[in-house]
Amino acid sequence: MRYPSHVTLVEVGPRDGLQNEATPVPTDVKLQLIRQLAAAGLTHIEAGSFVSPKRVPQMADSADIVRALNPAASPLHYPVLTPNLQGFDAALAAGAREVAVFAAASESFSQRNIQCSIADSLARFAPVLAAARQHGVAVRGYVSCVLGCPYEGDIAPQAVAEVSLRLLEMGCTEISLGDTIGVGTPAGVRQLLDALLPQIPASQLAGHFHDTYGMAIANIVAAMECGLATFDSSVAGLGGCPYAQGASGNVATEDVVWLLNGLGVECGVSLEALLDASALISGFLGKPPASRVARALLAKRGSEQ
Ligand code: HMG
Ligand code: MG
Repeated sequence: MRYPSHVTLVEVGPRDGLQNEATPVPTDVKLQLIRQLAAAGLTHIEAGSFVSPKRVPQMADSADIVRALNPAASPLHYPVLTPNLQGFDAALAAGAREVAVFAAASESFSQRNIQCSIADSLARFAPVLAAARQHGVAVRGYVSCVLGCPYEGDIAPQAVAEVSLRLLEMGCTEISLGDTIGVGTPAGVRQLLDALLPQIPASQLAGHFHDTYGMAIANIVAAMECGLATFDSSVAGLGGCPYAQGASGNVATEDVVWLLNGLGVECGVSLEALLDASALISGFLGKPPASRVARALLAKRGSEQ
C-alpha cells in the first residue's frame, strides 16, 4: 500500500482540546503547552477561538494567546477559529494571520453549534472570507459531522461535498473533514472520499478524526490510502465538542506520530519532545493522557528514571 512520504499534522489540542475542559487552564499554561508543541516540531498549532465567551469561556483569552505568539513574526502557523466577522476582526486585531471558519454537513448540528442553518452560516462566512482576502489572511474551512451526526445519524457524502465545495469557492484554502462524534469506520471514510476526491483534490482536504469508538487511527490509515496527507490531532487526545454529546477527544497526536513512525511516513515531530507537552497538560488537568502511546511511553520513562 502506498502512503504519502510526508504528512502535515495540525495540532488542535490548545483549541479543540481545551475548549472542552471543565478545569480552567490559565493563559500562561496554554502558552507553555503551545511552546512545547512547537518545540516538538509541530508547525501548525491551532491556538484559540474567537467565539462568544458566554458559550465557550475556555477560549476567552484567545486574543492574549495570539498576541503573545505574534504569528506575523513566527515561521509557524497559529490558526484560530472565527465564526463571524466579529470574531475575525478581533483575531486580526490580536495579530492572527490564519483563521478557520466552521460549518457542518448536518443542519441540526449547525443549529446547535452556531445557532444558524448551513446556508446562513455560509452567508456569515462570506464577509469573513472577503476581509481575510483583503488582509492576506488564509482561511481554513471545517466541515463537522462528515461521517455521522449526533442528532441526525448518517450523513450523505453528497451533503459533505456540497458544503465543502461552497467553502472552497468562497476562498477557503483547505477543508478539514470532521468526524465530530467519532462514529466513522474505514469503509465510511473510503465511501466519503470516493465521493469527494473526483471533485476536490486530496491536497485541499484534511482529516479530523475523533476517537470515540477507537477508530481514529484506522480512519487515518484509510484516508492516507486515499491520498490525504494532512491530519488534525490533539496532544494527549484532549477534546470533544461542547455541542456533540458523546464526542470524546480528537485522535491523540502521540498515537498519530507513533503510527506514522511505524509506517515510515515523515511528519517532523519528535515523540520524545511531544511527551513533555503531553505530561505537562495531563499533569495540569490531573488526569492521564487519553493517548495509549503516551501512557505507555510515560510509564516506560518513569520506570527508567
Ligand atoms: P449568535 O448568538 O447567533 O450570535 O452566536 P449573535 O451575533 O446573535 O451574538 C450573540 C452574543 O454573542 C452577543 O453578545 C455577541 O457580541 C456575541 P451579547 O450581546 O449577548 O453580550 N458574539 C461574540 N462574542 C465574541 N466573539 C464572537 C462573537 N459573535 C457573537 N465571534 C456564535 C453565534 C457562533 C458566535 C455563537 O453561537 C458561538 O460563539 N458559538 C460557539 C461555537 C463553538 O465554539 N463551537 C465549538 C467549536 S466547533 C468544533 O469544535 C468542531 C470542530 O472542531 C470540527 C469537528 O470536530 O467536527 C471545528
Ligand atoms: Mg473536533
